[in-house]
Amino acid sequence: MTLSRLSAHVERLGAEHPPIDLSTVDYTIKRPELVSRGYGGVLDYMARTELEVERNVLELNAVLPHPPDIDRHFYQHVWGPQEARHGQILDELQVRLGRAPAVTDLTTVSPRLRVIGLLAEHAPIQDVARMLYYLTGMTTERSALLAYHRLYDGLRALEERALAETVVTPIRRQEPGHYAFYQMSAQLLWHGLASWQRWLVRRLRAATFSLVGARSADQVADIGQMMLDLGVEGPGGAVHFAGQVARVERDLLHAAHRGMAVPPYVAKAFRTAVEAAQARASAA
Ligand SMILES: [Fe+2]
Ligand SMILES: [Fe+2]
Repeated sequence: MTLSRLSAHVERLGAEHPPIDLSTVDYTIKRPELVSRGYGGVLDYMARTELEVERNVLELNAVLPHPPDIDRHFYQHVWGPQEARHGQILDELQVRLGRAPAVTDLTTVSPRLRVIGLLAEHAPIQDVARMLYYLTGMTTERSALLAYHRLYDGLRALEERALAETVVTPIRRQEPGHYAFYQMSAQLLWHGLASWQRWLVRRLRAATFSLVGARSADQVADIGQMMLDLGVEGPGGAVHFAGQVARVERDLLHAAHRGMAVPPYVAKAFRTAVEAAQARASAA
C-alpha cells in the first residue's frame, strides 16, 4: 500500500461517485405498511447515522487538528457529501412511509473528543487518533454495507422493486469505496506506528469501542432490533456478523492472537445490542 495508490483511490471515488442525483430516485411504494413494519426501524437508524456525518466532520476537525490533506479532502469533499445524500434519501423515504423524520444530533462534539484533540496537537498522538478513526471507519462502513445487502434482499422479497433498485442499490454501491479508503489508510499507518503507539491503539480501541449511533441504552436496543429485523439470528448471529465486520481489524491489531475469531470488544458490542433488543421485546 502506498500513499499514491490511496490518493488515486480518493480521486477516482470523487470523480466516479458524485452524490446520488435525487431525480434518479423512484419512491414508488407498493405496500407502505409492510415496508414500514418490516424495515421502518432500519430506515430510521440508517437515515440518522448517514445524516449525522455532518457532526462526524465536526468531530474529525476536533480530533485531528492537523490531518493529512488527503484525509481532509476525503471527509469534507468526497465521503461527507455522499453520506449526507444517503441520509437525505432515506429520510425522505421514511417520511413518505408516514413515519417521523430521523431525530439527529448534528452539532454536539463530546468533551472527550475535545480532549483527544488537544492531546493530538502532538503528532505521535494524532497518529493514534487517526488510527482509531480508520478502525471506526472500517467497522462502520462494513456494517452499513452488510445492512444494505440485507435490506435490499428484504425489499426485493416484498417486491418493492423501485425502492430496492433506485434507493438501496445506488447507496450501497458507494459504500465499498469508503471502506477501501479506511482499510488502505489503516494499513498504511499501522505499519509505520511505534510499538507504544500500537499498544495505545489496542487499549483505547478496546476501551472505547461502541456501535455507531448508540448514545443511549434505548439506541443500543434499537440497533439490536434492527439487526434482528435484518435477519441476524440472535446473539450468536450477532457475533458472526461482528466477525465479518472486524476481520481486517483482527488481522492488523491482533495478529499475535492467532486463535482469535473476533476481537472480543466488537463481539460483545454486537451481542449486547441484540440481547438488549430481545430483553426489551419480552418486557413489552
Ligand atoms: Fe452511506
Ligand atoms: Fe459510507
